Amino acid sequence: MKMAVVGTGYLGATHAACMARLGHEVMGVDIDEAKLSKLRSGEMPFYEPGLEELTREMVASGRLQFTSSYEEAAEFADVHFLAVGTPQKRGEFAADVSALESVIKLLAPLINRPAVILGKSTVPVGTAQEMRALARSLSPVGDDLELGWNPEFLREGHAIKDTLEPDRLVVGVADDGAGRAEAVAREVYADLLANGVPFLLTDLATAELAKTAANAFLATKISFINAIAEVCEAAGADVVQLADALGYDSRIGRAFLNAGLGFGGGCLPKDIRAFMARAGEMGAAQALTFLREVDSINMRRRTQMVEMVKQSCGELLGAHVAVLGAAFKPDSDDVRDSPALNVAGQLQLQGATVNVYDPKAMDNSRALFPTLGYSTSALEACDNADVVVVLTEWKEFRNLDPVELAGIVRQRKMIDGRNCLDPARWIGAGWQYRGFGRASSRTAN
Ligand code: UGA
Repeated sequence: MKMAVVGTGYLGATHAACMARLGHEVMGVDIDEAKLSKLRSGEMPFYEPGLEELTREMVASGRLQFTSSYEEAAEFADVHFLAVGTPQKRGEFAADVSALESVIKLLAPLINRPAVILGKSTVPVGTAQEMRALARSLSPVGDDLELGWNPEFLREGHAIKDTLEPDRLVVGVADDGAGRAEAVAREVYADLLANGVPFLLTDLATAELAKTAANAFLATKISFINAIAEVCEAAGADVVQLADALGYDSRIGRAFLNAGLGFGGGCLPKDIRAFMARAGEMGAAQALTFLREVDSINMRRRTQMVEMVKQSCGELLGAHVAVLGAAFKPDSDDVRDSPALNVAGQLQLQGATVNVYDPKAMDNSRALFPTLGYSTSALEACDNADVVVVLTEWKEFRNLDPVELAGIVRQRKMIDGRNCLDPARWIGAGWQYRGFGRASSRTAN
């Protein structure tokens, strides 16, 4: 099929390359020329494992191209995916869907043959219906332009696998346009469907909500275990063993029960807030008041982390703190609402000398927090540190050698903000170890 993917951020760039991998002819569309010329030369504007190689291969195959011209995209494609950002509005909880609206306003008037638009961005429920009406009112083909919603569930760091082997495909369609949007979606994803990926055909609102509810559930699961971690600390119990015990229950599952610094990034925090805001607009605010608590348990992790560092150093003023990790999660260079960077900033503002190291997120971190100290390796960051804090669970940090590090730091104090280290190894090497909600938060003997 010939398709356009509008927006070439994490979502759009991945979707475009993966659709080309499935054999489709794909045109990635963006207004940012600098980004496009990088993508054309096979260079990624962000880090995602495997995506640079895949994009290069697809560009070389001739099945993937990039343009800033909506005319070209409208002329080229029979199906148009919308993958632009829907960030949190400044000073409000609601999502800003203006980028989506402006894409429809630019693209729809240029679509002059029957076509299908499939929205992928995460949107407040009701948006798809509005965008469908807007697109049809602006296109010369009117109702021959169909719009469905096909939310994306990919995770950063696993984006290619999540796109090519998703847990499910959800396609929301309007009653009177169901047939066409469904047929196009089935053709786009034919290979995935042949592999047995479940296909759920819903109305537009259900599809939009399926995405928002999934992220709200994941956020709730993380905050649940973090709240339990606080109780574990009070009771002298171990939240990691407890999560294992819960996880064996197939009704619960072990995933997303890692207690620690909590969730960040460009999705979960803004999505739960946008969900609350939209529920309020629809008169259902009460249904989601629990998400406020989910949000505040999560934000509390960051201040608790600063408190733990403070306790460990005696006082922050003049303390040397090595911060390992700046990305919001491993295998990503994304620092949007990153708990790690947020904590690093707070530590510095309270007088500590902070040295940050992250395997991939250095440039993005510097751009956001130019005043923090940055090191070129984990060992350099730990040089003369009074305390080392692991805030993103990169493999490189999980594999750090406590004996080697002991010779570099000023004091052997490790705070494991992601409960990703083996306490016995660190304690055995003479370190004082602290995790979140862990019984093993103690010193050797
Ligand atoms: C999330 C969802 O998992 C995807 O399904 C969704 O498509 C995406 O948002 C989106 O809306 O675009 P992502 O933000 O890439 O994906 O990352 P996650 O793997 O969900 O992690 C989010 C945050 O939760 C990270 O900061 C991570 O460190 C934290 N987390 C995750 C925990 O603190 N504990 C856990 O057990 C799991």
